[in-house]
Amino acid sequence: MSDLQVDRVRTADDTSSLLAQKTDKSEWWRAALGEYPTGVAIVTSLDDAGAAVGMVVGSFSVVSEHPPMITFMPARTSTTFPHIEAAGSFTVSVLGETHRDLCRAFFQSTEDRFRDEDWIPTGSSGPRLRDAAVWFEAGISAVHPAGDHSIVVGAVRDFGVGDGGSGLPLLFLRGGYGTFASSSGSVTPRDVGLNVREADALRQAVESAAEELRVQCGFATVIRDSVVVLAASRAGESSVPLVGMSFPFAAPLAPVLAAWAPPEQVRLWEEGARHLLGIVDREHLGTTLERVRGRGYALSVGESPGQPFDSVVTDGESRRSDYSRLWHQIDQEMRTLANAGTRAARALQIPIFDPDGHARFELYLGPFPDTLGPDRLAEILRRARQLVDELSADLDGAPPAGYPAVFEAPPSP
Ligand SMILES: Cc1cc2nc3c(=O)[nH]c(=O)nc-3n(C[C@H](O)[C@H](O)[C@H](O)COP(=O)(O)O)c2cc1C
Repeated sequence: MSDLQVDRVRTADDTSSLLAQKTDKSEWWRAALGEYPTGVAIVTSLDDAGAAVGMVVGSFSVVSEHPPMITFMPARTSTTFPHIEAAGSFTVSVLGETHRDLCRAFFQSTEDRFRDEDWIPTGSSGPRLRDAAVWFEAGISAVHPAGDHSIVVGAVRDFGVGDGGSGLPLLFLRGGYGTFASSSGSVTPRDVGLNVREADALRQAVESAAEELRVQCGFATVIRDSVVVLAASRAGESSVPLVGMSFPFAAPLAPVLAAWAPPEQVRLWEEGARHLLGIVDREHLGTTLERVRGRGYALSVGESPGQPFDSVVTDGESRRSDYSRLWHQIDQEMRTLANAGTRAARALQIPIFDPDGHARFELYLGPFPDTLGPDRLAEILRRARQLVDELSADLDGAPPAGYPAVFEAPPSP
């Protein structure tokens, strides 16, 4: 509102001189433009010898629906556009995320950019990419000069989608390539209510805890019905939590995130088990949570479940039946080893508390080597207990009343 008011009292002269100052510095202009995301397309046509020509554009857009008309804006300096204009028609292939190298090849005018297997000839309009996200063939209906570019308007003759091999459409933003992530699939610190300072403090804590204790660390939280890994120490060769990796928030995994949680989150955890295991054994789960609360942490046990776990969780193709099989296996193992003490300790999970005393995050330490002895475990438990206080304080949180002041190792049978 106040910006608008300021604009109204500026005179036209003021505004144009401000603009002149800014566009004088063309890097400012480019930086400003870089904030606007565009798709990326290759416009092709044929030169007068019948050879394919093409250029990368970010300026492709749709002009009209009835009749269908499209546009792109070539620079006046483009050496390709005169051929397109002379041909009188062109083809637009919208690029997918796998086309980054091809895009560079065009940008750098590399020789073999029209490899036969990639392109389908379309007659006079120039070839189209076999796996274009979408393509359009058009006849040029107008070319309007506009500053150092031209606005080319094309009447669409045909259009279609490619063979689906190029993934999601390629996007260009701030001088770099990326692609679209739907809000349901991508997670930023802000999505989980973290500000930059908190996210950074937790990230550093993960790195330094990993270094100090010589074990890998990751921290995770519950987002909707999934546990999502938000930060992880650098990957080693064994199984590691990868940032962005997610798996169902379903009992009996991630008990720390249910042991100090509001009732609706506990219910989510239990219902997740119903979904994957077919039943909810409330009594057993109640005992599990009681034990975790009593100790202040959870100890993962068993023959390294890392391998099957990682392969199911990191494989984008995994189905409910794969998760279900994995959950059955883990559930079985956890029941068998419930009283194994420290014998089969694989990893430690500790809560990071918010100001309400809820476990907002879990810090995961592990996997431990097979040779982890009692002294080493005691050392890890001691430091882990301090980390609960330190990391919770980073979030202005603290352990709730009754939280153990010391982490005892579980009694061995
Ligand atoms: C992402 C991206 C978007 C581009 N968009 C345009 C555009 O809209 N118009 C244009 O003239 N050049 C654009 N370019 C630059 C041209 O692809 C490049 O300068 C091209 O080689 C044109 O010069 P040429 O016709 O002489 O080969 C873009 C380049 C990239 C990497």
